[in-house]
Amino acid sequence: MTSTISLPASLSLQKVEYVRHWTDTLFELRVSRPASFRFRSGEFVMIGLIVDSKPLLRAYSIASPAWDEALDFYSIKVADGPLTSRLQHVKVGSEILLGRKPTGTLVLDALVPGRRLYLFSTGTGFAPFASLLREPETYEKFQEVIITHTCRHIADLSYGKHVIEGLREDPLVGELVSGRVAYYPTTTRERYDRMGRITDLMASGDMFNDLDLPPIEPSTDRAMICGSMDMINDTKSILGGFGLKEGSNASPGDFVIEKAFAG
Ligand code: A2P
Repeated sequence: MTSTISLPASLSLQKVEYVRHWTDTLFELRVSRPASFRFRSGEFVMIGLIVDSKPLLRAYSIASPAWDEALDFYSIKVADGPLTSRLQHVKVGSEILLGRKPTGTLVLDALVPGRRLYLFSTGTGFAPFASLLREPETYEKFQEVIITHTCRHIADLSYGKHVIEGLREDPLVGELVSGRVAYYPTTTRERYDRMGRITDLMASGDMFNDLDLPPIEPSTDRAMICGSMDMINDTKSILGGFGLKEGSNASPGDFVIEKAFAG
């Protein structure tokens, strides 16, 4: 007889369908999606593994859009991270734990209407935007989408670049994205076409010059921010300086924030 661990009702077991290692420290995971699992593009959910007979869970942004058949996640690998040191070894066919209640503030409903949507990300903070960039509602609500991604090294940009390159062939948004998505990748610790923290590139005006856009303006521009706490705070204060007000699910505003999950 095999011993089985009884799962709390808040969790289900899902099959890993695809794994891709983008760098030594970054990987992508696709898992089966229960028929009953509903979420809004941009939300996060708990995922994890059974460790020492107990569920070990972390919050992860869902990197695929709400209409997709499976669920994508994008993760860092931390050598001594309780979950990611183990999660990085899952293979196609392995089972992982999935929470039943997705939630989060990086959702279109938390923004008041506007013309342009800025998505500011660093590191794995790109994940919720991979979902929103493939969500048709993003293009119903906004005329233009600007996605910025800043990483230390060029290779860390690979997954984001792959998502952006796939947009044109996407079955649902392929025809909507033409001429409407501006991708602005930058690095901070390796020589690249464009270098610098996004906060510095906004403060200097370089980002607006490079993209041929006017400075951010509350009457037209909305934003979402996902990265480390420091990056969020610094980006928030720049957006505040442009007159944008923070929103939430309960009270939609000009911009919303969420910490990128790690560990
Ligand atoms: P930097 O190399 O100058 O620290 P991390 O891997 O530490 O999460 O960082 C991801 C990217 O976010 C790096 O390119 C990093 O730049 C940048 N970054 C870190 N802190 C901030 C901040 N406070 N504001 C803007 N960008 C930041």
